[in-house]
Amino acid sequence: MRLSSRLPSSHEPNALSAALAARRDSGGAVLDLTVSNPTEAGFPFPAGILAALAAPEVLRYAPGGAGAKAAQEAIAAHHGHGVDPAGVLLTASTSEAYSWLFKAVGDPGDEVLVPSPSYPLFEWLARLEGLVARPVPAFFHEGWRLDLQGLEEACTARTKALVVVNPNNPTGQFLAPEEWAALTDLCARRKLLLIVDEVFADYALEAPADRLRTVLASRSPPCALAVLSGLSKVALLPQVKLAWLILRGQGTASLQEGLEFVADQFLSVSASAQAAAAAALAAAPALRARVLARARTNLAVLDRGLALRPGLQRLPVEGGWSVLLRRPAVDTDEACALRLLETEGVLVHPGHFFDIPSEGFLVLSLLTREPDFAEGTDRLLRAL
Ligand SMILES: Cc1ncc(COP(=O)(O)O)c(C=O)c1O
Repeated sequence: MRLSSRLPSSHEPNALSAALAARRDSGGAVLDLTVSNPTEAGFPFPAGILAALAAPEVLRYAPGGAGAKAAQEAIAAHHGHGVDPAGVLLTASTSEAYSWLFKAVGDPGDEVLVPSPSYPLFEWLARLEGLVARPVPAFFHEGWRLDLQGLEEACTARTKALVVVNPNNPTGQFLAPEEWAALTDLCARRKLLLIVDEVFADYALEAPADRLRTVLASRSPPCALAVLSGLSKVALLPQVKLAWLILRGQGTASLQEGLEFVADQFLSVSASAQAAAAAALAAAPALRARVLARARTNLAVLDRGLALRPGLQRLPVEGGWSVLLRRPAVDTDEACALRLLETEGVLVHPGHFFDIPSEGFLVLSLLTREPDFAEGTDRLLRAL
């Protein structure tokens, strides 16, 4: 059957996924330094979350609107910064929040500007809505910075929205004040929706003091702003399927109405996810503290290993769950990742998985359990 051109033309696994599957099939051990599933990372979840998922009210169906009031209130309290509970719109995931925003602001063929390097889903999320994602490159010079000139040049008459991830995944940088000023100015001038994904905002590690820990600190931005987050990173519960978006700034009253209309067509957020929101958010600070402690331990172990190997460095991690290792680009990062898997049994992501524009970068997850991270990085650094 001929399928829509919005879908990929091939579903072949990439070479690293194929090699990983083959290794696992043949019983080969894998030290996985790409762990991104927080439910498999050994963190203890409090029993209160389970009880909340099975609360009596989950047997009542109350369709419509932006979401259950108690969930909206818990989310608004989690963010602070004057977030109005009534303006918190619930979705099943951040991906769904993107898709609803793209549906609401774009017509087929319209464009959205997306960060690069970044989370590799944007192109497909846009394409599935009939939109075109235009990457806006960030560059590394004593830290990752947005190419503000490139951003202006990438805008066309069809551009409808601009996406920023704060802090970005996997490069970890938070927005600097001058970037925020330039982004909001651009969006105000061009009447673009500024979408800021803050799923990792609570995971600041080595962020300089002037960075914007959340753009919600800006009470009245000069442009239309949508801030996205969700339980998947905030409370380590991606399987509960609860995310949200918060609107602020110019012209968002009609956007809120439009999004509530979209939400009404899908009614996708389950009663149990909404009922569990408050308990999950109450448990979240202790879980996040464990993640941050693990990330710091893993970074310290990595730094000790790197101190012995002057040819290798890591980049600063302002925030998030990943660290970028820089190595001499004697071969492609994919070839390097394949070799590490084959000879050391260590799995890492090559930088190009996240559209890092040059060779010489491997991406490691700081969520990896400490003993695995120590053993894996030891093998990896020796092999490199
Ligand atoms: C920047 C970013 N946004 C969103 C998500 C996923 O969120 P959700 O599970 O709510 O779709 C991820 C997952 O890694 C991410 O890196």
